[in-house]
Amino acid sequence: MPYSAAARPGRLVYTADGSNSLYNTELDQHYHSMQGALQESRHVFINLGLKPALEQASAPVRIFEMGFGTGLNALLAWQQADDFQKPVEYLGVEAYPIADEEVEGLNFDEITGKAGLAQLHQAPWSAYTRLTEYFSFCKVHTTLEDFTLNDAPFDVIFYDAFSPTAQPELWTEEVFARIAAMTRPGGVLVTYSAKGSVRRALDAVGFSVEKHPGPGRKREVVKAIRR
Ligand SMILES: C[S@@+](CC[C@H](N)C(=O)[O-])C[C@H]1O[C@@H](n2cnc3c(N)ncnc32)[C@H](O)[C@@H]1O
Repeated sequence: MPYSAAARPGRLVYTADGSNSLYNTELDQHYHSMQGALQESRHVFINLGLKPALEQASAPVRIFEMGFGTGLNALLAWQQADDFQKPVEYLGVEAYPIADEEVEGLNFDEITGKAGLAQLHQAPWSAYTRLTEYFSFCKVHTTLEDFTLNDAPFDVIFYDAFSPTAQPELWTEEVFARIAAMTRPGGVLVTYSAKGSVRRALDAVGFSVEKHPGPGRKREVVKAIRR
């Protein structure tokens, strides 16, 4: 059954590293690994994706996130941009934004040491807001399928849809071909799913796929480089 606008996240959960996440009752999916939301976000999206890009960057690093969700990845990216003192332009798409009460329940400011989750959620839709000297942020209220890029391609893709089992329509060659077209050659896509069909689809649309050790007990995650 396709995910619908009626779907609401449902309930707040604690993951094993003490960070919160949400559970989506309709899809029976957690927003993050229950072994640690913070651990997973740092490992997959920040350490594998953003950090190497920031280390090499001589221009603003442009990030695209599929599934802004709770805002944890965006908050960590903001923290990295400020720590590195290098500019990041972050665009996240989200079809089903979480409610204010859900945002208030999340402990990310405290557990990351970076205050700002509320600012991310209160930022206007469809416009970049400069939140600090090094971090510009834009969220777009749309499905990935309806998103069109009218700007420069991205350097880093955080691909964070619900799992291929829960949302198979978001892990197809057709969708990844659109993502590839939005990624500059040499740019990277990082994602927590190393499923064979996902790796093959990414390869088929022009990414060179690498498997990397996952966080906690997760065996492998993916970093794919746009050819
Ligand atoms: C795994 S969660 C994302 C976790 C998020 N990156 C975070 O740090 O909280 C997947 C997200 O994708 C969103 N989503 C699901 N289908 C979507 C679609 N077709 N287009 C855009 N967003 C979608 C969900 O509402 C959810 O917020």
